[in-house]
Amino acid sequence: MGLIETIVTSTKERVASATQTELVLAIVLITFTIVLVTRRSNVPEGVKFPPRVGHYIPFVGSAIEFGASPITFLHECYKTYGPVFTFKMMGMDCTYVIGSEASALMFNSKNDDLNAESVYASLTVPVFGKGVAYDIDAKEFGEQKRISKAGLTINRFQEYVPMIEEETTKYLQRWGNEGKTDLFKCMAELVIMTASRCLLGREVRALLDESVADLYHDLDGGFTPAAWLLPGWLPLPSFRTRDRAHIKLKKVFTDIIGERRRTQKEKAEGESEGTDMMWTFMNTPYRNGQLMTDDQVAGMCIALLLAGQHTSSTTASWAGFYMCHDKRLQDRARAEVLDTVGEHTTPTFEDLKELTFLDNTIRETLRLRPPIMTMMRTVQTPQQLMGYTIPIGGYVCASPTVNHLLEDAWGPDNMDFNPDRFEGMRTDKADELTRDASATPGKGKFSYVPFGAGRHRCIGEMFAYTQIKTIWTTMLREFELSRDSLPDIDYTTMIHTPKDPWVYYKRREAHKQAPGAV
Ligand code: HEM
Repeated sequence: MGLIETIVTSTKERVASATQTELVLAIVLITFTIVLVTRRSNVPEGVKFPPRVGHYIPFVGSAIEFGASPITFLHECYKTYGPVFTFKMMGMDCTYVIGSEASALMFNSKNDDLNAESVYASLTVPVFGKGVAYDIDAKEFGEQKRISKAGLTINRFQEYVPMIEEETTKYLQRWGNEGKTDLFKCMAELVIMTASRCLLGREVRALLDESVADLYHDLDGGFTPAAWLLPGWLPLPSFRTRDRAHIKLKKVFTDIIGERRRTQKEKAEGESEGTDMMWTFMNTPYRNGQLMTDDQVAGMCIALLLAGQHTSSTTASWAGFYMCHDKRLQDRARAEVLDTVGEHTTPTFEDLKELTFLDNTIRETLRLRPPIMTMMRTVQTPQQLMGYTIPIGGYVCASPTVNHLLEDAWGPDNMDFNPDRFEGMRTDKADELTRDASATPGKGKFSYVPFGAGRHRCIGEMFAYTQIKTIWTTMLREFELSRDSLPDIDYTTMIHTPKDPWVYYKRREAHKQAPGAV
């Protein structure tokens, strides 16, 4: 398993390993580009811009305060300036829209007005490749999302649940009967293995114990602030590693795709035909009847896998920490699992729907620890909001983390972890695992947006819940986990991860291993 472990090196380590040259280059290049971009001209009379947060160091602006504690900084700004304010960060104007009403500007916007690909392309195109996601126009990406949704269905999830349980049980065998472990690393490994198995199929999962793990790791290392800020053609070592991994992984995937096409081998032994996303991308046409090229199929496979990797593993970890830290939550979730699924039976997708307390625990985790702290768009046309004009050239940003904590929306117990606040908020759609986006106990349509909203809303929510609930169903049955305090939050990573993420575990009597069984 050594190779799989290499996948989960944290972003923090990668940032720390960035060379001095990369950082110096970053600063020089940002200075030039940003000064050009943010130049404002011909401000019409009577136009009122959003209030500006003051700063001492030109160009750097509020970057240091924001970087040290982004949530506190944004809350302070909200208290001082209200729901719309602008601050300078490394030369760029960032306008935050806080709270449900102001966030509506972003979530109801059209891509031509507030644009996503111009923010995300530099980060994602070198990793996912050309011809998919943010490399293409929003309409074609919309088609690719439609095709993805055709594969992320209840029928598929019914097949995925036993696969996820099998992988998790196998993985947990190596833990022995008791010990101390890094829960965050464990969740990252489980998420990549189970997602590879379900979404990419048995062939890729089989290779994960070999060369593919290293390639995932190198490719994933492309998600750094330097990659976002600097042009991809720069000859930096981390970029070269990422680009080499991209080419090799594409080759692995396109070989599998080619082999499947040749032999019609999409039907893996023991699984019904075409249960994975690779199969869906290979066989579902665009509206004009054309199929994706093999290169696009491979790119979409990488995109889905990595879109869910850090988001789902961080969520699964924080949910675990809340349950380890508060034994009552753990006992309640475990009792629900035993009542619904039993001690040894393989859970079904239908069982997962009945696990409402576990569901509420994940919901509440996503409220207090949403993995995506900020969603960003570039302003392509002047935007009017609450009497202010947001000019072309800067960023509009909305933050789930801040919206989820506002006392005006969530009441005086806004900071408490209370899964029961979501009780009774299930959708009435019988086939839904989770509730619809509007079913929130917070005030306002966009008070709860861990998966975003509008045109760019996440397409992986149901898969993420299926995966996280199955992993935790297995964990809760097999182990008692404990930890005295919640981990602190690491704000230096792009997704806010837990610091010192260890837990103690003890195998439960009904699952004890015989001596020497590991
Ligand atoms: C978009 C959160 C899991 C695929 C998003 C966005 C958020 C988000 C907030 C919107 C970004 C924006 O508007 O700028 C999450 C969370 C997850 C999760 C919290 C897990 C707990 C997944 C999984 C997949 C996935 C498992 C794939 C199977 C995508 C894709 C988009 C997206 C393709 C892009 C949509 C677009 O730009 O139109 N996700 N995600 N996500 N997510 Fe997820």
